[in-house]
Amino acid sequence: MIKKSNIALIGFMGTGKTVIGARLAKLLNKGFIELDQLIERKASKSIPQIFAEDGEIRFREYEMELCKEVSQRENVVIACGGGIVLNKVNIDYLKQSSILICLKTTPEVIFQRISKDGKEKRPLLNKPDPKAEIKQLLKFRAPFYNAATEYQIDTSKLSIDQVVEKIRKIFESAQTQAF
Ligand code: S3P
Repeated sequence: MIKKSNIALIGFMGTGKTVIGARLAKLLNKGFIELDQLIERKASKSIPQIFAEDGEIRFREYEMELCKEVSQRENVVIACGGGIVLNKVNIDYLKQSSILICLKTTPEVIFQRISKDGKEKRPLLNKPDPKAEIKQLLKFRAPFYNAATEYQIDTSKLSIDQVVEKIRKIFESAQTQAF
């Protein structure tokens, strides 16, 4: 097995991929990439604008294109958008160069976090009843997250540093298993 130098964080919206990814990258001295930010740069518009003007399918095309590109990088932590698991090809790309870690938390914590950010930032949750939407999407996506990786971390009772430490250990043990 070839050593993988990247860590890709997957998981539902509001599970902390960006905050944790940035801290992890600093600790491990790796570059940090937020896939959604690359999409916004490529499209020259915000995620809500892409959804509103071009539709979700176009957004997923950008996501796939950029996922392929970042999978060719080395020594980076990649924070993926919550829907990255919907296209298996994305997971296949990521797995070529990254250890995949899935962050999980409760629907209540997700709701609190997305409310703090403003639900208009997340087009899929910008609905009259975002709590119900979260529960429904989580139920639908659970098998996709489970199939994507064996490494799952429930972040609901952990601090950022505790999560980062858990990921560091997983990454190091995966590195020593590879040869
Ligand atoms: C999405 C998650 C968002 C963003 C887009 C779609 C999803 O990213 O990619 O709004 O389908 O779950 P975050 O998980 O970073 O919020």
